[in-house]
Amino acid sequence: MLRVAASRAQPSAAYLKKANAALPAVSTTPHISDAQRQQLDSALRVDQAGEIAANYIYMGQMFVLRRDPAMKPLVQEMWEQEKKHLEVMDKLQLQHRVRPTLLSDVAKVAGFGLGAATAMMGKEAAMACTEAVETVIGEHYDDQLREMESLPSDHPSVPLLREVIREFRDDELEHLDIAVEHDAQRAPAHALLSSIIGAGCKVAIELCKRV
Ligand SMILES: [Fe+2]
Ligand SMILES: [Fe+2]
Repeated sequence: MLRVAASRAQPSAAYLKKANAALPAVSTTPHISDAQRQQLDSALRVDQAGEIAANYIYMGQMFVLRRDPAMKPLVQEMWEQEKKHLEVMDKLQLQHRVRPTLLSDVAKVAGFGLGAATAMMGKEAAMACTEAVETVIGEHYDDQLREMESLPSDHPSVPLLREVIREFRDDELEHLDIAVEHDAQRAPAHALLSSIIGAGCKVAIELCKRV
């Protein structure tokens, strides 16, 4: 069950080492154009917002499922990884001097509400929520990796960012697998629930890139 813990011995140390190794703000380099700078800004802004929302989703699930001996360690383990993701994104946002989204409080409330509401519908619905969210986030990180191909690799921040995003994408896809293994697809009205949550996440991503 606790594949997350088994597969990643000490995520915090590795992630923080990467974040700490990040170089000064990208805006100081002559190798990056205004358009590329904007691309980085919006990428970091939306990633930070996404990790905030993920933390609150797991917090909401935990609030409801905290007395469930099977679900509690599972949700806690995934939440611990989201805490590390957010810690790294917070550092990168500061180091690259990116303005955080104005919607972070909305992300917190919506995330907690989504996590708690689906968990109240049952364990399977909680897992269906995780499955839907992590599918969209995994795809989002994948898209971002492709978009970053156009950024100059000779700037040391860029390969570092790619590495962080690749690692996070793999974690999110692992969360997706865990949710499926834990009966996400047995949730009542699974298809409807997935499409509503997935569509909501896509709208949130587009909003947080801009606002
Ligand atoms: Fe995450
Ligand atoms: Fe995740």
